[in-house]
Amino acid sequence: MASWGEASQSRLIGKRIARLSGKDKVTGKAKYTFDINRPEMLYGRILRSEVAHANVTDLDLTRAEALPGVKAVIPLTEVGRKLRYQGQEIAAVAAETDDIAKDALRLIYVELEELPFVVTEADAMAEGAPQIRDDWKGNQSNPGINEDGDVDAAFSEAAVTVEATYHTPVQTHVCLETHGHVVEWTDENNLTVWASTQAVFGVRNDLARRFELPANQVRVITEHMGGGFGSKFNAGVEGLAAVRLSRMTERPVKLMLTRKAEHLVAGNRPSMTQHVKAGATRDGRLIAYDMRGYGTGGISSGAGFNAPYVYHVPNRRTERFNVAVNAGNQRAMRAPGHPQGAFAMDSLMDELAEKLGMNPLEFRRINDSSEVRQAQYTLGAQEIGWHRRNNVPGSGTGVKKRGMGVGSGLWGGGGGRGTQARVTINADGTVEAVTGTQDIGTGIRTVIAIIVAEELGLAPTDISVKVGDSGPGLPSGGSGGSQTTASVAPVIKTAAAAAKQKLFEHVAPLLQAPVDDLRIGTGKIYVASDRTKTVTWKQATGQLGQESISEGGNWDQELRQGGVAGTQFAEVEVDTQTGHVKVLKIVAVQDCGLAINRLTTESQINGGVIMGLGQALLEERIMDPQTGRMLNANLEDYKVPGTFEIPEIKSIVFDTHRKVTGVGEPPCIPTLGAIANAVHNAIGVRIRELPITPDKILTALAEKKA
Ligand code: MOS
Repeated sequence: MASWGEASQSRLIGKRIARLSGKDKVTGKAKYTFDINRPEMLYGRILRSEVAHANVTDLDLTRAEALPGVKAVIPLTEVGRKLRYQGQEIAAVAAETDDIAKDALRLIYVELEELPFVVTEADAMAEGAPQIRDDWKGNQSNPGINEDGDVDAAFSEAAVTVEATYHTPVQTHVCLETHGHVVEWTDENNLTVWASTQAVFGVRNDLARRFELPANQVRVITEHMGGGFGSKFNAGVEGLAAVRLSRMTERPVKLMLTRKAEHLVAGNRPSMTQHVKAGATRDGRLIAYDMRGYGTGGISSGAGFNAPYVYHVPNRRTERFNVAVNAGNQRAMRAPGHPQGAFAMDSLMDELAEKLGMNPLEFRRINDSSEVRQAQYTLGAQEIGWHRRNNVPGSGTGVKKRGMGVGSGLWGGGGGRGTQARVTINADGTVEAVTGTQDIGTGIRTVIAIIVAEELGLAPTDISVKVGDSGPGLPSGGSGGSQTTASVAPVIKTAAAAAKQKLFEHVAPLLQAPVDDLRIGTGKIYVASDRTKTVTWKQATGQLGQESISEGGNWDQELRQGGVAGTQFAEVEVDTQTGHVKVLKIVAVQDCGLAINRLTTESQINGGVIMGLGQALLEERIMDPQTGRMLNANLEDYKVPGTFEIPEIKSIVFDTHRKVTGVGEPPCIPTLGAIANAVHNAIGVRIRELPITPDKILTALAEKKA
């Protein structure tokens, strides 16, 4: 049975190893899609709607087409069609320079008949609101209702109940590299696309289908990418437009989204509003839960969230629905549905614990059936110094008050089959590992190098890893659902093992020993029964002569496992005069199975915590009900955490077994509840609406005083 072996026998796996592409990234040598320039390349731009809802009554591209330097203009809507949100595409241009492309957009004549719109959930649900989806009755979807146990009976048994409304606003992905492509037709049947994508093969197949090309005549390359978080699985309108413009002009075209468009149309995390009532027994058993909630995914549905979450409630009733508004589509965003659900659940848990007069950690312990998380609670509490927490919330003295809180999360991340990979050993001793996955930023190149190097007794830097290119025809799935490492690692490991076996067959005659008596040492191959018999790696591969060894692998299920638990503790300091919340420290204890690279795993946890902190304290898409526009579609007014906001983060890689499990998404989940609970512990008032901004703190403090 395949296994990763014992930790004590691993030379590289589980150690902290610097990212192979790190130097290229910090020196600027690494080429992102944005950095790709091709000879004779044109610049693409898209004209977008500035209104939230309108009929297109006229569209004339001729003046734009006539502008010197403009090479092509294509419509992306047509007369008689509707525009349903700010940012929706009207037309695209390709021009000799980016400035000419910008000028050309101004020469496109579009006439719109504006229609009534709604951009907030409240307006969408109000009596007499304009209907904005043809396929729904009103602006609410049919509710999904679930019921388990006897909720009413459970409430009558409950010693305490809490009833509250929790809200998280729409968050946008804020990929530092905006969506986009550089497209080049090498001839009329062969297309090469540099894409900022988390699914190289997904985009390849998408483009092949839409442009009716054999899949192997479309090559998609993503050497490096600047963030996707769930928003970059498809070519998108902008990708398809770039391919069409390139085909028309027979020139390469670069079309990257502007920062504004990125906020408006490139996906977002839906909002959540939930009204929940829950009850617990005197001895701290959570027994009753009743929740009605909704969210908006803009013009699309998909605004689900997890409720209840993590903690077990035997009797529960839930009702969820989607609300449509005139705003850009939601897309999957790092742990879709989990952070918003976790914020509400962890707030609720603390409110119940307070009513019971119970330590919120004890209350969690009673209601959490995960043994892993139970151990994490102990470790995290020690690390943050939970005993220093205020027993009475808000009891600290002085202007700046400190508090602590805890939150929890869970995720799958067990990977899937479908990855093909090849490990090649050449006669000169060089080793290559090739597969069609992509590095969404987690360091999969380094993970692959570590696995191959461990198997072959080499250093990670000895392995040449090629990912992010559909050219070699070795498919892998999209980097979503925290599935990449668990999908790729078993295939790489078995490919490297097969290549090693082939090499042993070549070396056995030289060592005068049977193949199964050969072993890999560091930089050498030796005979297990007679360790004096040894050859260096170079001597061994020299046996290949003109040949190379090239082996594939298989997705051995024994090498991976799904299901992770995590918990986080936060310590904050709240300035009661300014309302400013400073997060002092986050302790993130994250279960991840076997961490192939402890350093990049910690880095993923850090990234998740930072994203969760942003959602807790800063991020919010603000829509203007008067104009139907997003008021903060930039990075000045849409705040994401910067160096001043990032606290000390103690990332604890909590390995629970020796099987690979992905951990990209789960660390962004528990942060919200941990911070919200810490704020309450500091000042004794609860903020039930994210983000927790100074105005909300000051208002809540003033209300408490009054
Ligand atoms: Mo993820 S939200 O499946 O990239």
